[in-house]
Amino acid sequence: MKSFSPGRIITALLTVGVWLSVTSPSEAAPLKRAAVLPQNDAFYNPPAGYESTALGTVLKTRPVPNSLAAFSLLSQNIAGAWQILYRTSDSSGNAQATVTTVIEPHNANASRVLSYQVAEDSAWEGCAPSYVLQKGSSLSGVATQAELLLMDAALTRGWYVVTPDYEGPSASFTAGLQAGHATLDSIRAVLASTNVTGIKANADVALWGYSGGALASGWAAELQPTYAPELRIIGAALGGTPVDLNATLNAVNKGPFVGLVPAGILGLASQYPELAAYVDSVLIPSKKANFYKAKSQCLAADIIQFLGQDFNSYVNTTGFLNSPIATKVLNENHMGKYLPKIPLHMYHAINDEIVPFAPAKALYTQYCSQGANIQFVADQLSEHVILLITGSADAILWLQDRFNGVTAASGCSYRTTATSALDPGALPVFGELLFNDLGALVGLPIGPLSIT
Ligand SMILES: *[C@@H]1O[C@H](CO)[C@@H](O)[C@H](O)[C@H]1NC(C)=O
Ligand SMILES: *[C@@H]1O[C@H](CO)[C@@H](O)[C@H](O)[C@H]1NC(C)=O
Ligand SMILES: *[C@@H]1O[C@H](CO)[C@@H](O)[C@H](O)[C@H]1NC(C)=O
Ligand SMILES: *[C@@H]1O[C@H](CO)[C@@H](O)[C@H](O)[C@H]1NC(C)=O
Repeated sequence: MKSFSPGRIITALLTVGVWLSVTSPSEAAPLKRAAVLPQNDAFYNPPAGYESTALGTVLKTRPVPNSLAAFSLLSQNIAGAWQILYRTSDSSGNAQATVTTVIEPHNANASRVLSYQVAEDSAWEGCAPSYVLQKGSSLSGVATQAELLLMDAALTRGWYVVTPDYEGPSASFTAGLQAGHATLDSIRAVLASTNVTGIKANADVALWGYSGGALASGWAAELQPTYAPELRIIGAALGGTPVDLNATLNAVNKGPFVGLVPAGILGLASQYPELAAYVDSVLIPSKKANFYKAKSQCLAADIIQFLGQDFNSYVNTTGFLNSPIATKVLNENHMGKYLPKIPLHMYHAINDEIVPFAPAKALYTQYCSQGANIQFVADQLSEHVILLITGSADAILWLQDRFNGVTAASGCSYRTTATSALDPGALPVFGELLFNDLGALVGLPIGPLSIT
């Protein structure tokens, strides 16, 4: 008998999803309307004068133009979904407008909202969740499309899920201030959207994100006391948190995930013109076009294109990461400059091969010395992508306690586990996740059973 491995089962499930979407007879049943890329969609353009509106102002709303779908194909049976264009600000504080997607499950509790930040991990606007979660979008956003299955776990509990395009209109992957601002302003906009979405203005809001999504969630948690002090956030679950970007650049070089490097560098360059100019000046002319491809494709394509390469081979200097401008930008986007006031559940694989463990542990120690409230789980057996799945049950249970009003244990606690998948309470959650995800894939209603 094979041993029960939730990671494997869910990986198989994801594979089935991709298989279904690739092999389905799409010619036989043409889509009524292909999803429109953000850059071709006028909804994403803010109205004149929006710069003078307050942060978090709702600028436009509409029902999501196509149904939300797993792997761009299998429609989700939900009560409703909307997009909101809202006012936020970039890393330098300049006015910006971006879009958040609001998802209402059946039998929703309008007082519970989970802001789920996806691991978009790409430097192209065509990878934004508002686009890739729609039916008929390109499958290039498959990584984010797979995360819809984790959002389903929240929807099943009756929580509204909102997922912001926190990278903003320039797809500023890894820009911390940008991501934090856009996440917090999305919450402001969502709480002001009652007459459209039904969400209560005083709803409880929690944050969740893994990897690139933890970068956005973590920055939002850090910036909230100063940038959005009026927001009441009940906690944040952060997995595989990229505290130190430089550590990731070095860790992934010459391995399977080098594609994150051009995406990250070009994402930052979109927020820092001096960095953009510097990068352009050191790229080897014959390799420039290949490097810039990361500005017009998503994570999956980046991974394939840059597989195993040395990113230093694209530049004609050995001091790329040591240059004054790279040092300035990397330092500015290093977490730990501000202290979150909300409780945190942090989880990280000790052997994380993409987002090194040490900086996350160091951040935990630093936050705790400053009086934070954190539960940290160090996972011995998982690697980066596996912990996205195996760590999800603990994260959901922790978030559920916060929504149920259970006070988080005060102070900090640190725990090592062989694998989060076998933590107490985790197995039933995986069983339920699997059951509900299969149901969602075949179009069963998503949300708590109505008990009338
Ligand atoms: C809805 O959520 C609020 C806030 O968490 C809670 O007080 C209330 O009991 C919930 N309602 C139901 C029916 O669960
Ligand atoms: C919701 O309220 C806003 C602000 O009062 C208003 O501008 C908007 O038209 C309303 N939308 C709907 C669908 O009622
Ligand atoms: C690197 O390449 C750029 C563009 O080709 C060139 O302007 C620059 O002088 C080169 N720098 C070095 C150190 O070779
Ligand atoms: C980034 O890493 C490189 C290579 O280890 C190192 O030389 C550089 O000083 C680091 N830069 C920053 C800002 O940490």
